[in-house]
Amino acid sequence: MGRDVIIACDFASREQTLAFLDPFEREKPFVKIGMELYYAEGPQIVREIKARGHKIFLDLKLHDIPNTVKKAMAVLSRLDVDICNLHCAGTVAMMEAALEGLTRPDGTRPLLIGVTQLTSTDQARMERDLWIHAPIDEVILHYAENARAAGLDGVVCSPLEAGAVHGRCGAEFLTVTPGVRFADGDVGDQVRVTTPARAKELGSDYIVVGRPITAAKDPVAAYRRCVEEFVG
Ligand code: C5P
Repeated sequence: MGRDVIIACDFASREQTLAFLDPFEREKPFVKIGMELYYAEGPQIVREIKARGHKIFLDLKLHDIPNTVKKAMAVLSRLDVDICNLHCAGTVAMMEAALEGLTRPDGTRPLLIGVTQLTSTDQARMERDLWIHAPIDEVILHYAENARAAGLDGVVCSPLEAGAVHGRCGAEFLTVTPGVRFADGDVGDQVRVTTPARAKELGSDYIVVGRPITAAKDPVAAYRRCVEEFVG
């Protein structure tokens, strides 16, 4: 898969989500379904959006004992999504089990990416709450290396970390990056943001864009602008 823009469909209901997607008749964007929508509507919403022709990143961030994650991933692989994810903090054994569960009998599977450290976690919180005392940038790269060693396809990270992740884990290792804003747009609660054009320069493979598209007056135009800047 090449570079692409993924729209974060952070809506609470099927109705809102489908109303948002209706005008995207022509381009069928890649969409991200997160916990809010999935827990509200269940697997049927995934099937319905997939049936409309969209690629899907199912962002459920699994983290449990290896056997439980393996079995849950086997269920998700039957939903025919394109990307799913987990927390790298679950250990290499958990990531390996996840891959096993995700792989279908015919050998195909969705891409699997890992969350290194959430962007809501900073150095101080990591030290105080998690008792991790290494520099956060090093922790992120170490978790990315663990993900690669386990056979995962990439990680979620900031566009600002994409170059370092590629440097450590290889150009083929995917970087999926939220925290993207237009140069003339609202930053909202994101702190370290980059534009789609800058994310491209920094080497992101996929950008995840929510409110700059979902809250725009003309979401289709905002999406097209993103694609133009990022994919070119
Ligand atoms: O609206 P906005 O563009 O900020 O949405 C970004 C999306 O990416 C949200 O769904 C958010 O939960 C997700 N995300 C993030 N930072 C991470 C991981 C996921 O913003 N580190």
